[in-house]
Amino acid sequence: MKLAIIGYGNVGRALAQLLQRKRADFPFTITGIHTLRHGTAVDPAGLPDAPEFGPRMASVEEFLDAARADTAVELTTLNPSSGEPAISHIRAAFARGMHVVTANKGPIAHAFADLRDEAARASLGFRFESAVMDGAPVFNLWHSSLPGVQVLGFTGVLNSTSKVVIETMERGGSFDEGLAAARQMGITEGDGAYDIEGWDSAAKAAALANVLMDARTTPQQVSTRGIARLTPMRVQEMARQGKTVRLISRGRRDKSGVALRARAEVLDRNDILAATPGTTNMILFHTDLMGTFGTVSIEPKVEQTAYGVFSDLVNLMWGSQSWLPPAFSRRFSSAEAPPAASGRPK
Ligand SMILES: NC(=O)c1ccc[n+]([C@@H]2O[C@H](COP(=O)([O-])OP(=O)(O)OC[C@H]3O[C@@H](n4cnc5c(N)ncnc54)[C@H](OP(=O)(O)O)[C@@H]3O)[C@@H](O)[C@H]2O)c1
Repeated sequence: MKLAIIGYGNVGRALAQLLQRKRADFPFTITGIHTLRHGTAVDPAGLPDAPEFGPRMASVEEFLDAARADTAVELTTLNPSSGEPAISHIRAAFARGMHVVTANKGPIAHAFADLRDEAARASLGFRFESAVMDGAPVFNLWHSSLPGVQVLGFTGVLNSTSKVVIETMERGGSFDEGLAAARQMGITEGDGAYDIEGWDSAAKAAALANVLMDARTTPQQVSTRGIARLTPMRVQEMARQGKTVRLISRGRRDKSGVALRARAEVLDRNDILAATPGTTNMILFHTDLMGTFGTVSIEPKVEQTAYGVFSDLVNLMWGSQSWLPPAFSRRFSSAEAPPAASGRPK
């Protein structure tokens, strides 16, 4: 499968390294990389592991035409207020018959239903496992493991930057020192204010609601309040009382649709939602048939986000039997082989 990568920052580079590491079993080829300021690299026969970037191509359309890939991997910066230009990048790929994998929550938070339907009409794959919880299964979980289960709501601690800031202040550091530490870890959005003011958590709430609850909403419709007003003094006072703060994304089905909020909440230290230090994130799903259950990812790093993208690519390429490495599954005769997944590239 040939890949055209749009955006080559923390996640794009981690993905390229993961693809190199797993190349023997999963033979993906990167035929193009397009960035905002660092130029463009293209070779339809496959780029070397350390590609040289030339001048930036004038448009994503020109880049996609030149890369001649099967799948576009959209890894550009989050824009929580419109989801652009990522939405246009995805549409440009669909228009060229390319599958799309993205870690960018903007398009899922703003235009999921339209993009899903456009992909389906064109028999193309569209996957976004990393958009909400790095590489931990959130969306792909529902395809195979939970048939018939309806999501009634969710509760998620899904923003890492805010926790790094809060923990820095609990240890006596300043708000800005905490933000700098998070940036150093490569986990902040391009604009750190999106994390601090709650936009990242709101976009995640909207994305979860759009995909799992058919909410057709946007981050602007999420009741949002971030952690910008917290001070070291206030955080330390709460710590002395056995309390801490988490930015929590909540969704709940009600009579008028789906109510969403992404707000800083004061929690007891022994609340399960408080057991999420550093980059550890957690989501609980409230359902009709499975009660409440959840997924926890302990201290994920950017490599786990890259894994989420990789898992989408593998699922597109080899379908749901992807737990069998290709080298192993080739040993099956065609009569024994599982049926092909729809939307699989030729
Ligand atoms: N980092 C994480 O842990 C994490 C976790 C989950 C999801 N995500 C999501 O994954 C995406 C990428 O995150 P990241 O941390 O890799 O971001 P990043 O380090 O800021 O990199 C963004 C990349 O996108 C490029 N870019 C921005 N606008 C572009 C445009 N209009 N056309 C072409 N390229 C463009 C940038 O180009 P230049 O290099 O030239 O500036 C850069 O290479 C974001 O949407 C983020 O929300 C990230």
